[in-house]
Amino acid sequence: MPRVVLVGVGPGNPELLTLRGKEAIERARVIMGREDLLSLFPHKVGIPLRGDENTMRVLIGQALEDFAEVTVLLSGDPMLFSLAKHLPASWSLEIVPGVSSFQYFLARLGIPWDHCAIVNCHATQELSRFVFALEQGDGVVVFAGRRLQALRILEIIGALREDAEVFAGKDLSLPGEWIGRGTPESLRKTLPEEDGLFLLFVPPGKRRGIRFLEDHELARGTVPLTKKETRMLLLGILELAPEMTVLEVGAGAGGMTVEMARRIPGGKVVAVEKDPKALGYLRENLRRFFVTNVEIHEGVAPFAIPERSYERVFIGGSGGNLREILKKSYALLEVGGRIVCSAVTLKTLEEATATLGTLCGGDVGVLSQSITRFVGGSQQGQSLNTVFIVWGRKP
Ligand SMILES: C[S@@+](CC[C@H](N)C(=O)[O-])C[C@H]1O[C@@H](n2cnc3c(N)ncnc32)[C@H](O)[C@@H]1O
Repeated sequence: MPRVVLVGVGPGNPELLTLRGKEAIERARVIMGREDLLSLFPHKVGIPLRGDENTMRVLIGQALEDFAEVTVLLSGDPMLFSLAKHLPASWSLEIVPGVSSFQYFLARLGIPWDHCAIVNCHATQELSRFVFALEQGDGVVVFAGRRLQALRILEIIGALREDAEVFAGKDLSLPGEWIGRGTPESLRKTLPEEDGLFLLFVPPGKRRGIRFLEDHELARGTVPLTKKETRMLLLGILELAPEMTVLEVGAGAGGMTVEMARRIPGGKVVAVEKDPKALGYLRENLRRFFVTNVEIHEGVAPFAIPERSYERVFIGGSGGNLREILKKSYALLEVGGRIVCSAVTLKTLEEATATLGTLCGGDVGVLSQSITRFVGGSQQGQSLNTVFIVWGRKP
C-alpha cells in the first residue's frame, strides 16, 4: 500500500518544528512540499508541490510510483485546513502534528483559544461561518489567504462589531513578522501592502443569539415579504442545524433565505425564484447581511429545482404548481427531513395539507398565525393577514 508521511512543519520558523517532525524529514528518501518549505531542508531531495488539492494529490501519486513512501511537508498542522482530507483512503497515512500559525499567533498575543471559533476564509462560503461566530459574540481566529480577503474581513467586523479591538498578523514566526492591533478601520490602514497569509483575531464580544431581522431592514420594493413574526415561527418549525442543505421554493426578496442561511453557516440554501425583480432584491439582501451560503436558481419550480438531496424544504411561493412542487421536493428530501410550507389562501392551505398528508402518511402539522402589531403605544392594534403554516416529515 502506498505510504505517505504528512509532517506539519509549523508556522515557518524551523525552531518550531517538532523533534518527531525533524526525524521524519531526516528519515525520508524524498520530501515534497511548497518550495519555501523545501528550502528549509536543502540537503534533502525535494519535489515541489503546487496548485490546488487535486493537482497536489496527482503529483504525490506520481511520486508514489517511483518511491514506496513519500514525506509531504505541510505548513502549520496537517489536520487543520490542510491536504490530509483530500488524499485517497487507499493510501496509508502517518501524520506528524505541527504547531499551527494560529496557535503561534495567540501565544504571541497571550490569549487562550479554548472557546474560539477557527475559520478559514480562503473560500467565499466560509465567510458565513465567520459572520455566524461574530454575530453570536464568539472570539474568532480567521485565516485570510490574501490581503484583499483580510480587508474584506475587517470591513465585515467594522459593520458587525464596530468597536472591537482586532489583532492581525503576517509572516508569523519569521524574521519579518508583523503584528498589529486596532479598530477594524485603523487596521485596514496599517495592514502591510504585500500579499500573503494574514491571521486575524477578534476577541469575544457580548454573548448573543442570531437575531431575527426587522421587516424594514430588508430591501423589497413591492415584492411580498414574509413578516418577522412568521419567520420566527417558520424557523422554529424548520429545526435547522448548522451544516444543513435547505431547498427554498419561491424565495422572493429573500426574507426567509437570509434568515435560514444565517443559521446554517456550514450548510447552504438552494433558492429557486422566478421573478427577476424579486431576484434583484434577494441579491441585495444577501450582500446587505454578508450572506454567502446561498445558491440562486432563477426559474419556475418544480422545473428549476436542482436534483440533489435536501434535509429541509421550505415553500414560500408556488404560483399554482404546489402539488408538483411538493411531490418533487418530497422525492428529493432525505428520510427524516421536513417540508414546511406557508400559505395565505385557503386553496393553498387545502392543497398543502392534502398533498403532504398523502406523501407523509398523515403525519402533518397545521398552524394558523394572526399577527397584531401595537405601534406607538396605542391601545388599538393593526392586524396583518392570517398566515397558515403546514409541515410534514418524511418517514
Ligand atoms: C410570498 S413571496 C415569498 C416571500 C419570501 N419567502 C420571504 O421570506 O420574503 C412568493 C415568491 O414565490 C415566487 N414564486 C411563486 N411561484 C413560483 C414558482 N413556481 N417557481 C419559482 N418561484 C415562484 C414569487 O415570484 C414570489 O417572489
